[in-house]
Amino acid sequence: MCRPEHFAVTYAINPWMDPVAGADAGKAVEQWEALRAAYRSLGHAVSLIDPIEGLPDMVFAANGALVVGGRVYGAKFTYPERYAEGPAYAKWMLENGFSEVLEAEHTNEGEGDFLTLDRVILAGTGFRTDIAAHQEAQEFLGRPVVTLRLVDPRFYHLDTALFPLGGDNVAYYPGAFSPGSRAVLERLFPEAILAGAQDAAVLGLNAVCDGRNVVINAEAVELIETLRGRGYEPVPIDLSELRKAGGGPKCCTLELRS
Ligand code: ARG
Repeated sequence: MCRPEHFAVTYAINPWMDPVAGADAGKAVEQWEALRAAYRSLGHAVSLIDPIEGLPDMVFAANGALVVGGRVYGAKFTYPERYAEGPAYAKWMLENGFSEVLEAEHTNEGEGDFLTLDRVILAGTGFRTDIAAHQEAQEFLGRPVVTLRLVDPRFYHLDTALFPLGGDNVAYYPGAFSPGSRAVLERLFPEAILAGAQDAAVLGLNAVCDGRNVVINAEAVELIETLRGRGYEPVPIDLSELRKAGGGPKCCTLELRS
């Protein structure tokens, strides 16, 4: 995770961002601290990367890389405003015991568009990550990568529209995907939890599930009830300030998969 000390909304690279309205870094830090505390109380270790001045979106650690089996597929950001984050996260990896770090040739925004399950990695494209990066990641990680096409600009990263429920199931908002990708999801995950437009519109799908607990935006009230009904333990979090940049709990979290 990366503390949002330098968080701001000074440019707009997704429809959630309004530079005129801006955002409050102090409030963002407070909300982010509650997210970090939630992970700790669930027993998950949290490592931190130092925030860099001039990189207001660096708090969204999910975009910094994709780590699977201890191998690190480096991010290569779409927009110049975030270019410098890729090397910063790659450097952190090298300094923290990850020796296999691939500098990607193709544009990709790490776990923003790559979500890892036991059998496959689901990969988003359409707004940020290039399809060629899906192939590059598959070759480097040796895991099957399934391409999914995103069609609604509010859901510009895969992790804004879908989250894994442990290793073999997912929750998602069908409206974010092309018809073909919806059919792929139905085939792969007949037991999936489907979220509605209201829960999607508060970034309720930008959640983190450890198999039992689901750290999720508190405003996703219907989805929270559905999760409870299916035996999961929702952990509601208020990250409304970070949503002004288009992010939620998952965006703030890069999973280091050994
Ligand atoms: N403002 C950031 C951007 O548009 C938000 C990134 C959110 N991260 C995520 N994993 N969805 O790039």
